[in-house]
Amino acid sequence: MTNAPDVAAPNTSDIYQPSAEIVEQANVTAYMRQKGLSSYDELHRWSLENNEAFWSDMANELEWYQPWDKVLDDSNKPFFKWFTGAKTNIVHNAIDRHLKTWRKNKLALIWEGEDGEQRSYSYFSLNIEVSKIANVLKSMGVKKGDVVTIYMPRIPELMFSMLACAKIGAAHSVVYGGFSEAALADRLADAKSKVLITADGGFMRNKVIELKKIVDEALARTPTVQTCLVFKRAGNAVEMVQGRDLWMHDLLNLPIANSSCPTEEMDAEDMLFILYTSGTTGKPKGVVHTHGGYQVGTSTTLKYVFDVKDEDRYWCAADPGWITGHSFIVYAPLILGATSIMYEGAPNYPYPDRWWQIVARTGVTVLYTAPTAIRGLMRFGELWPSRHDMSSLRLLGSVGEPINPEAWRWFYQVIGGERCPIMDTWWQTETGHFMITPTPVMPLKPGSATKAFLGIEVDVVHEDGTPCEPNEDGLLVIKRPWPGMMRTVLNDPQRYVDTYWARLPDMYAAGDSARKDEDGYIWVIGRLDDVIKVSGYRLGTAEVESALVSHPAVAEAAAIGLPHEVKGNAIHAFVMLRSGFEGSHELEEKLRAHVGHELGPIARPDSITFTLSLPKTRSGKIMRRVLKARALGQPEGDISTLEE
Ligand code: WTA
Repeated sequence: MTNAPDVAAPNTSDIYQPSAEIVEQANVTAYMRQKGLSSYDELHRWSLENNEAFWSDMANELEWYQPWDKVLDDSNKPFFKWFTGAKTNIVHNAIDRHLKTWRKNKLALIWEGEDGEQRSYSYFSLNIEVSKIANVLKSMGVKKGDVVTIYMPRIPELMFSMLACAKIGAAHSVVYGGFSEAALADRLADAKSKVLITADGGFMRNKVIELKKIVDEALARTPTVQTCLVFKRAGNAVEMVQGRDLWMHDLLNLPIANSSCPTEEMDAEDMLFILYTSGTTGKPKGVVHTHGGYQVGTSTTLKYVFDVKDEDRYWCAADPGWITGHSFIVYAPLILGATSIMYEGAPNYPYPDRWWQIVARTGVTVLYTAPTAIRGLMRFGELWPSRHDMSSLRLLGSVGEPINPEAWRWFYQVIGGERCPIMDTWWQTETGHFMITPTPVMPLKPGSATKAFLGIEVDVVHEDGTPCEPNEDGLLVIKRPWPGMMRTVLNDPQRYVDTYWARLPDMYAAGDSARKDEDGYIWVIGRLDDVIKVSGYRLGTAEVESALVSHPAVAEAAAIGLPHEVKGNAIHAFVMLRSGFEGSHELEEKLRAHVGHELGPIARPDSITFTLSLPKTRSGKIMRRVLKARALGQPEGDISTLEE
C-alpha cells in the first residue's frame, strides 16, 4: 500500500499540443467549420447557448421511427425527459440501419478469447445472432418492459444478449461477471427478473470462473427467477435444474430461434437498461437509462472524442458489465458502424504483451482503457510493448479514476509513440456518456480531463453552490441536463432526487471533488462519499461491510480505501469481532475469502485490522474519514462529532 500514484496537481506548464494532422482530420473540426466557427471554445459556447439546436443536430444523425415533439422536457425537474414523442429503438440505429448500407458486410466485432480462439461478426451476422436470441427470449415469455438479468463472461454472447433484450423492448440488467452470489442475488431481487442469462463459466488467467455455480447459489437466495438460460463457454461441469435451466445452444437450434425478428418500436423515454452502481449507503442503486437520449449522447461523444471513422479499429478494453462497456463497447460503436475489438481475458496472460500483440495484429487505431491497467502493464517495462509494431494507433483514452501524470506520460510515450493524444474522459454510470473530456483538437495537460464536452456545462462550486476560485477544491457539478443522463433509481425515485439533486439548487452533484485551474481545465480529485474505486471498479463501503458482517465472527465492520500503486485504491477493513472470537492471521484470511465469495474477488480487502472499537459520531455513524486519517498517519480533522 506504499508508493501511491502521484496525485495530479494542476501543472500549467506541462502541455501537449495535438499535431496539425490530427486537428485537420478531426470530426469536431468538420462540425466547427459547418457552424462557421473558428475555435473549439467558440463551438462549446455556441453549443450551450443553442443547447437544443446542438442536441437536435446530433439526434438528426440517427434514424427515428417518428420524430420528437420536444428536445427537452423539463416540466418535472429533476425527472428530465429527452426527445419526447419520438419513437425509436437503439437497436435500429446500432444494427438495422446498417443493413441497408454497405456496412452490412463490415465487421462489427472482432473477438479474441483468452485461449486464442478468434471470432468475428459482420453487422449482417450480428443481426442474425441477436435476432435468434431475441426470438428465444420471446418464446420464454419475455415481453416489452420486462427486466432480464445477464451474468456472463466477456464473450460475444454477452453483447448479443444485451442487444436481443433491447430489440424486443425488454430492459437488461447486466451484473458484472466478476461479482459473486450476494451481489447477483441482491440485483436480481431488486429488478425482480424472471429470466437470467448466464454461461457455464469463463476464462481468466487460464482458470475457469464457474459462473453457473455462483448462479445456483444466488438463485437459492432469491425466488424471482423462473428461467435460467445457459451459454456454453468453458465446458466445466454444471448442474442443470430441471424446469428452470436450459442450454442456449439447444434452444438456438430449435425452430423458435428464427433468424429474423422485428425490432420493437419504443418511446424515446422507455427503459433501455438498468445498471446497478454503488452509492453512499445501503444497497446498490439501479440506475435507469432510456432508448432515445442515451443513443444520442453515447454516439455523439464517441464520434467527437475518439473521432471514430469507418476505417478505424476501435478497442475499448473495459468489461461490457460496467457502464464503460455498455456505452462504449456495445452501443456507441455499433451506432457509429465501427469495427470493435473485444478481448476475453487478462492483459498479462500468458505474457505481459498480450494487449500489444492484439494492437499490432488487428491494427488497432483507438485504444481506450483505465489508469489501473496502464499502471499494471507499466510495471513490466518497455521491452514488452517495444517488441510490437503499434504504429497503427492514432488516439488513446483513459477512464475510471484520475490518471496520475507518470502513467499518462508512459502511455503517451511508450504506447502512443508521442503521436497519440490521450482522451482522459470523466463520466459516471449515472451520466451515461462523457461529460468532461478533451477532443483531439485540444491541448492536453497530463492528469486533467480538460473541459466539459459540447452541450455540457460543468463547474466546481462551494457547498452553497457558489463557484470556487481557480485552483480551489470544491464539488464537481453539472449545471444543465444532458440526453444520456440517468432518469431515476429503479424502485426509488426519491433516492435519485436526494442523492444527485437535493444538495445544490438546480445542479447535479456528481459526488466528486475537483479543482479548475486558471485555464479552465478541470482536475478531478476523487470521490467525496463512501465509494471506493478499486482498479477503476466502483465499490461501496456499505457492500463490503455488509459482506463482512454476514460472517458469524464479525460484529461490526468499516471499510476504507487506501492508496495503492497499481489499483489506485485498495480496500482496508476494520473489524470488531463477536465475543468468543479472537483476531488471528487465519481469521483474517478467512474473512478476506468470505468477502471474495460473497461479493467478488475485486471486493476482497487487501488487509484487515481487528479492533475493539470503531470511531463513531454520536448518532452512531462510523467515521471512515477518521479511520483513513489514522491509517495514513494524517491529522484526524474535525472530530467534534465523535462520540466519547
Ligand atoms: C471516477 C465510470 C477522474 C469518478 C465511467 C466518478 C474519474 C466515478 C474519471 C464514476 C476520470 C471516472 N478522471 N475520475 N477520467 N472517470 N472517474 O460510475 O470518481 O464506475 O465519479 O463510471 O469514477 O464511476 P463509474
